[in-house]
Amino acid sequence: MVNLQGKVVLVTGSSRGIGAAAARAFAQAGARVGVMARSESAVNDLAAQIGGIALSGDVASPTDMERAVATLVEQAGRLDVLVNNAGLIGPIAGISAADPGEWGQAIDVNLKGVFHGMRAALPVMRAQGGGTILTVGSGAAHNPQEGWSAYCASKAGAWMLTRALDHEARSQGIRAISLSPGTVATDMQDAIRKSGVNPVSRLDWSVHIPPEWPARALVWLCGPDGDEFLGTEVSLRDEAIRRRVGLIP
Ligand SMILES: NC(=O)c1ccc[n+]([C@@H]2O[C@H](COP(=O)([O-])OP(=O)(O)OC[C@H]3O[C@@H](n4cnc5c(N)ncnc54)[C@H](OP(=O)(O)O)[C@@H]3O)[C@@H](O)[C@H]2O)c1
Repeated sequence: MVNLQGKVVLVTGSSRGIGAAAARAFAQAGARVGVMARSESAVNDLAAQIGGIALSGDVASPTDMERAVATLVEQAGRLDVLVNNAGLIGPIAGISAADPGEWGQAIDVNLKGVFHGMRAALPVMRAQGGGTILTVGSGAAHNPQEGWSAYCASKAGAWMLTRALDHEARSQGIRAISLSPGTVATDMQDAIRKSGVNPVSRLDWSVHIPPEWPARALVWLCGPDGDEFLGTEVSLRDEAIRRRVGLIP
């Protein structure tokens, strides 16, 4: 298990799902964790449970993101890891039927939110001599799915942001990696199931992995094993990766 004693981690979208599991996993690994999402009470509850720092806010707002980083650094003294996890499935609708406002919101959160996170964290990490910026990606970045144009386009953009960050800042000690978790049993996957729109919505619930799996993979990527994946996307569908993370024998 990677030991993150003395490290400070900010997890966006950590009021539930993968983000909440990641906040718990990072705290278990010894880190001080900033818990960020829009739902203030859920953020406060989880932060209290794990001895973390509650940072309610919206990743789509550059000001909220800057404030979250500044508050965390003020209270915990540093920032070693940013996990860009906050995400929305967006409008599940064909391109001609999708509402432009909802479509834009998916871009604001899934793509621009990742940029706002990187932009806010980078000066702090550079001043410290380095840091890790993990972004929760998706197979949807590489393969279109019916009714998911906003989600696919935003995740494709976020994947390019990880590559751009690696290209720009690896030499300054910034470790940028994308984690594509496969399908995970969360509220988002429940919303997908209820939509009935494409083959993903018809998957049997039992095929989805628990949110604790990507959470453990995110912690693992902060250790030395993560170094070989800088600037790439790690897929948790890959059995060899699952084995290395210790999720399967
Ligand atoms: N579940 C899957 O099968 C799957 C597969 C591949 C990738 N992913 C990715 O994994 C990440 C987490 O997904 P999940 O399945 O855990 O979804 P989820 O259960 O719906 O949780 C989404 C989280 O993001 C937060 N969030 C949404 N909009 C936000 C905003 N504007 N600002 C701050 N936080 C925001 C939500 O909190 P609030 O509502 O309180 O703000 C919540 O904590 C997403 O990036 C998703 O695209 C999921």
